[in-house]
Amino acid sequence: MNFEKTRLKFDTTKLIKDYQDFITNNEFVTDDKTLVDFNAICINRKEGDESSVTGGNVRGKYWTYPTDTAAEEERLEYVDEEAYNEICPEFAGTYTEEVYNECKKHYKLGRMRFLMKPPRSCLSWHRDPERRLHIPIITNLGCRMVIENEAQYMSTEHVYITDNTKYHNFFNGGEENRVHIVATILE
Ligand SMILES: [Fe+2]
Repeated sequence: MNFEKTRLKFDTTKLIKDYQDFITNNEFVTDDKTLVDFNAICINRKEGDESSVTGGNVRGKYWTYPTDTAAEEERLEYVDEEAYNEICPEFAGTYTEEVYNECKKHYKLGRMRFLMKPPRSCLSWHRDPERRLHIPIITNLGCRMVIENEAQYMSTEHVYITDNTKYHNFFNGGEENRVHIVATILE
């Protein structure tokens, strides 16, 4: 199954507040400042390790087809997802921490991040090492995740599992930023 709705339910308004508080006080972290369309905020980190939420650790290994040949290429470094088990200090005591802890009761998780996609932007056609848990918090009707040949609009009413081990993409065809909490599922 490419997309699966879970039974989890969270207060989107509270998550938006945590997200907005964070960007008021901090900034997005990217591994490359020219990558203006990749905007991530790490919610958890390796224990006591500030560097685990910067640089390439914000992104992680993936595979892609960069040209019209069938030559798949591997990009970026492997991330030790299992080591991410501590809430980042900025989120300690917030509703986001409650959400993180609740999700961990149901799934074995690696990294959890807020991922923002600006309007009129999309990702590469790629696959990741693991599936993902998606909590949409700000979206619009022009947003779609595409896995293989299936496209899905993800509503803020639901929490989804997406099979990112298959080739996929995401595009925001609307005119406002899209923000999801995305967590790696390890099993
Ligand atoms: Fe992906």
